[in-house]
Order: sequence, then structure tokens, then C-alpha cells
Amino acid sequence: MTVILSANPTASASALRLRPWRAEDATALVTAHRDPLLRRWLTTSLVSEAEARRWIDEQNQGWADGVRFSFAILECGSDKNEVGDPVGHVVVKASVDPTSASAEVGYWTSATVRGRGIAPRALDVVSRWVLGSQRLMPLARLDLLHAVDNHASCRVAEKCRYALRSVLPAQPPAFPTEGHLHVRTRRNRLLRPESKQGQARYPSIHQ
Ligand SMILES: CC(C)(COP(=O)(O)OP(=O)(O)OC[C@H]1O[C@@H](n2cnc3c(N)ncnc32)[C@H](O)[C@@H]1OP(=O)(O)O)[C@@H](O)C(=O)NCCC(=O)NCCS
Repeated sequence: MTVILSANPTASASALRLRPWRAEDATALVTAHRDPLLRRWLTTSLVSEAEARRWIDEQNQGWADGVRFSFAILECGSDKNEVGDPVGHVVVKASVDPTSASAEVGYWTSATVRGRGIAPRALDVVSRWVLGSQRLMPLARLDLLHAVDNHASCRVAEKCRYALRSVLPAQPPAFPTEGHLHVRTRRNRLLRPESKQGQARYPSIHQ
């Protein structure tokens, strides 16, 4: 089964299409991964097309196993057809605990399209789908984790109504700063921020 989602155009931005990654996206993936900001915040860095193809295969296996829903983000033309290469990524990763009703989201956009609200629009569409109609991975809650100094990621969480749930401790040396755990639930209820440190693992891999 191939899941394709879309976000409507806005007054200033074109429609988005979200579809599973394909082998032919490998070149665009490697190009996106050359960006220093992406390298700073992602734990996976794809340097060669062979690595990118392997990564795409893993995403497809995640779909097949029902444990990882990975979407390439594409901008659409006026006729809603995809235009150009993927400009970003949204992923939903199942918890390692099979009894858990929560999963974690991750995302990035290419350097050339940042600041146009693409990540929050794409994440919102995926969040609605995951917490709504889909039956592949029954979920009641989505977790979003980011380093406290990743302000752009925090803005994406806020724009997508992922409420700040707790501040997570740093885990040096790999992760020197504290993190934020944001949460969005099925009913979209805004959870009250907590000042105490949470129990969630931090940080996790956003790729
Ligand atoms: C975080 C990220 C996905 C945001 O994507 P986006 O499509 O630019 O999202 P937005 O357009 O809503 O911008 C979000 C914030 O990014 C910052 N921003 C704006 N223009 C920017 C630009 N040209 N370059 C970098 N950041 C920019 C702003 O703080 C903005 O918030 P604002 O709208 O309140 O001003 C993107 O910066 C990214 O890919 N970062 C690297 C990977 C990463 O950090 N992923 C998340 C890991 S937890």
C-alpha cells in the first residue's frame, strides 16, 4: 500500500505532496544532506548515492513492517502535480515498546526552501493522518524531541500544536544540551507544560 498525503496551497505557498521515498530520490537526498544545518541536527549523514539508496530501502522496509512511516515532501505546481525533487522529509517512528500507543516524529527541509513554513505544514498533515484515519499503526500520541538550542525545530513544534511537555536532561558528550519533549495527542488537546524533567529518552534520531 502506498500512502500519499497532501497539504493545500496557501496564499503564498504551493500545495505539498507527501509520498514514500523512491530510489530515484537518491541524488536529491545526498544534495540535501550536504547542508551543514542538516548535518548538525541529524545523527545520520548520507554522503553517497549508495548510502542514500540503502537509506531509502530502509524506509521502504519500515513501511512494509508497519513500524516507520517515512515521507518525502514535494512541492506541487498549479495542477497539483509534483514539481522537482523532494524538498524535505517527515517520519513517524514506532516506539520500541510494542504495547505503546505513542510514536515519535522527525523532520527536515532542504536549505533552499527553509523559512516558508513547509516543515510545519507537512508535519501537520502527517500528524492528522497518523492520529486520525490510518489503521497501520494505531496511535494516540506523537512525541517530538529536539535540542533546546534548535529554535527552528521548536517553532515547528509550536506551529503544529505539539505542546511542550517537559525538559529533558542533556546526555553529554554526544548531546550536550537539554532537550524539549513536545506532544500532540489524538484529540489535539494542548497539554500543560511541565517544569520537571521528563522520563522520555533524549535525544533520539530525527532522520
Ligand atoms: C527545523 C526545520 C525543519 C524547519 O523547517 P522550515 O520548513 O524552515 O520551517 P518554517 O518555515 O516554519 O521555519 C521554522 C523556523 O525556522 C527559522 N527560519 C526561518 N527562515 C529560515 C532559514 N532561511 N533558514 C533556517 N531557519 C530559518 C525561523 O526561526 C522559523 O520560525 P518563524 O517562522 O517563527 O520565524 C529546518 O530548519 C531544518 O530542516 N533544520 C535542520 C534539521 C532539523 O533541525 N530537524 C529537526 C530535528 S529535531
